[in-house]
Formats: sequence, structure tokens, C-alpha cells
Amino acid sequence: MVRVIGLMSGTSVDGIDAALVEITGLDVDLKFELLAAHTFNYPEYLREQILDCCAGAALSMGQLAALDNAIASEFALAARQIQAVEADSGAPNHPPVDLIGSHGQTVYHQPPNRQENHRARKQEGNYLPALGYTLQLGRGEVIAKLCDLKTVSNFRAADIAVGGHGAPIVPKVDAYLLSHPTKHRCIQNLGGIGNVTYLPARQGNWLEKVCGWDTGPGNALLDLAVMHLTEGKKTYDQDGSWAASGNRCETLVEKWLGLDFFQTPPPKSTGRELFGLDFLKQCLVECQAYQLTPADILATLAELTTTSIVHSYRNFLPQMPDEVILCGGGSRNPYLRQRLQARLEPIPVLTTDHLGVDGDFKEAIAIAILAHWRILDFPGNLPRVTGAKKAVNLGNIYLPTTII
Ligand SMILES: Nc1ncnc2c1ncn2[C@@H]1O[C@H](COP(=O)(O)OP(=O)(O)OP(=O)(O)O)[C@@H](O)[C@H]1O
Ligand SMILES: [Mg+2]
Repeated sequence: MVRVIGLMSGTSVDGIDAALVEITGLDVDLKFELLAAHTFNYPEYLREQILDCCAGAALSMGQLAALDNAIASEFALAARQIQAVEADSGAPNHPPVDLIGSHGQTVYHQPPNRQENHRARKQEGNYLPALGYTLQLGRGEVIAKLCDLKTVSNFRAADIAVGGHGAPIVPKVDAYLLSHPTKHRCIQNLGGIGNVTYLPARQGNWLEKVCGWDTGPGNALLDLAVMHLTEGKKTYDQDGSWAASGNRCETLVEKWLGLDFFQTPPPKSTGRELFGLDFLKQCLVECQAYQLTPADILATLAELTTTSIVHSYRNFLPQMPDEVILCGGGSRNPYLRQRLQARLEPIPVLTTDHLGVDGDFKEAIAIAILAHWRILDFPGNLPRVTGAKKAVNLGNIYLPTTII
């Protein structure tokens, strides 16, 4: 049994999810217990800096270093505070925490260039793969030092180095935690970006058939639109009630679905580089041409999220699932859930809460498990999902004692 803190902040940049878990087993016998969980908001100034950075603001190396350190110290604070949350919970004794797994804050993600790779491969003897690139700030070595705990971070780099997208990285965890003996499931995360893990029923060589990809926008465009429409007064559409009061423009949704990303078969990953501020601005111009109200705009963007998910299931899954299980912040948005259900009828749309896994912290729990696997040299990626050439250990290990 190990006690691990998983730390995660996704593309929504809404805060740092911290989960303190007790993990037993490795793969088919993998189990966890969630001892404490909390989302720690970023200080407003830091959130703004991160969002600016993600939107392509120019940074000097000094500014980048300061941002990296500021994020690392917020992650370290979250790790210390989640231990305090557990201590306050009244449980009689608390063995020390063994390990931190910290995903860090993604500020840049560039998938490998498939066409470029294909072209380069043809130039015999001169093959330089056009690798992807991903950057998560919040250095693990600082967290290890500030928390005095062994820390694993930089989970995506090893997969990218062997030609993968470095994303999605949770499908192997999903496979061992959430697959079912007889039902085929889709685990759909609705973070800033959406990503799916398809889990065939646990029979025969089921693990080899697990697949997954980034489906496109989750909440990122919706959040940006809300910030724009309220001039920064609101950061998201609580319960989707604003979107629910609007009318969807199906013509625009169909047009946006024509984008290359949605038509490209997996492996595929994306981020704010594609579904960020520039994309939103373009959408807003087109919405204006159709004289959409703010509520209509939100309803239409929500429809892009749900339709792009269903479109990718229909086009790229070996078969439609028996059930779709949601997690992530978007699973708390009744309007998104209801629209997804309408598009998927009669397939039931549930949340991971129904399976005993808190949907707000599933990704943070997964990061804790990936850190545990790293220490045991158990590969965390699924090459079939990320497009990597082989299974590799994910993450760098930082020991507090090795740092002066
Ligand atoms: N009650 C709610 N109603 C509507 N939207 C919600 C609600 N609760 C959360 N959200 C949405 O969820 C978002 C946060 O989701 P989450 O933390 O899963 O995203 P993330 O940090 O990008 O995660 P990741 O990329 O790791 O999956 C918020 O920005 C908001 O848009
Ligand atoms: Mg979040």
C-alpha cells in the first residue's frame, strides 16, 4: 500500500485538483481509496498570466522562469494543504505520504506532425521524425524540495520522445479502474479539452483493443466565450443555464465540424493552440453573421462540444459503447450532459460517480496512479492510444534529498 498525492491542473486553468489516495495492487488488481480531495484555485494574477501565456503572449526567459516557479510553488502548496485536509478529517492516524505525482500546468502542446513524418520517412536515410512538443510548467524538483517528498512530474515527455502525442495519458489507468466484465464503455472526460477512453468488455485480449483520443473542445471555448460576453465578470456558465436559454445554430456546428481535426483519425491530441482564443474569435464573427444572441452562441458552442464527441465515436470507435461515463468539470454541467444524452440516445450517459470514482478528481487520481507506476517502472502509456512506438515509463523522479 502506498499513499500518493495526485496534482492536476488542466486546460481550463480553473485550479489545481489535489487527490490524496491510498493505492494497492498494480494492474488487474489495482485499487485505490480517495482519502482527501480538493480543488485549490490559482491566485487571480497567476491564472491571468497562465491564460495569456496559453494564448501566445510573448514571454522573456526570465518571465518564463518566474511563471514556472510560481506554478511549482502553488502546486507544492496544494500538496501541503491536501495533507492538512486529511489531518482535519478526523481519521485516527495518518501514515506519512510516500509520493507526489504532479502533472503541472500545460501551457503549450504541439502534436507530432504526421504529414511531415510521412514525407521525411520517404527520404531514405535522412529520417528525422517531426516529434511533438509539450510543456507543463511547475517543476517537479521544486515541488519535491518544498514538500520534502519524492515527486514524479513531466509525464508526457517520454511518450513524445518515442513519437507519441503524449496524450491522452490516462487511458491505461481508466482501463484498470473502470472497465467492465461484459459492458463496452466510453470514459469521456470533459475538461478544457475533451478526451475519450474506449474500454471494451474485459474479455480475451481486451487491453489490446483499448483506444482513445482527444475529442476536441470540452469547456475551453465555452469558458472563453462566457468571459468575453460578461467582460470578465464570469468565468463559466454555471450549470449551463445560460446556454440552455439559447437556440443552437446547427448550420454553424456542421460547418465547424468540417475542421481537419475532427475528420482526422486517431491517434490525435489537441489543446488551446487550436481551440483557444483565436478559434473563439473566428466563431464569434461567424455567429454575428447569423445574428446569434449571447445565449445562442453558448448553446451553439456547447453543441460543438457534444456533436464533435459523438461524431468521433461514430467514425473512429470499433463499435458504439453500451454506456458513456462522464468525468471532469463538464460532467457537472446539466445542459452539456443532457445534449450529449440526446445525441447518443438510447446509450445511457452516466458519470464516474456512479462507479464510485469522484468525477471531479478522476484525472488527479490517475496522475497519482501514474506516479506510483513510474516508481515501479511500469509503463503508463498505451502506444495504440498515443501513437508512440513503444510502451515507456512516464515521468521524471525527483528526490528531495538530492536537491541542495
Ligand atoms: N456546475 C458547473 N456548470 C457548468 N460548468 C461547470 C460546472 N462545474 C465545472 N464546470 C466546468 O468545468 C471546468 C473545469 O473542468 P476541469 O477542472 O475538469 O477541467 P480541466 O482543469 O481543464 O481538466 P483536464 O484538462 O485535466 O481534464 C470549468 O472551467 C467549467 O467550465
Ligand atoms: Mg481543472
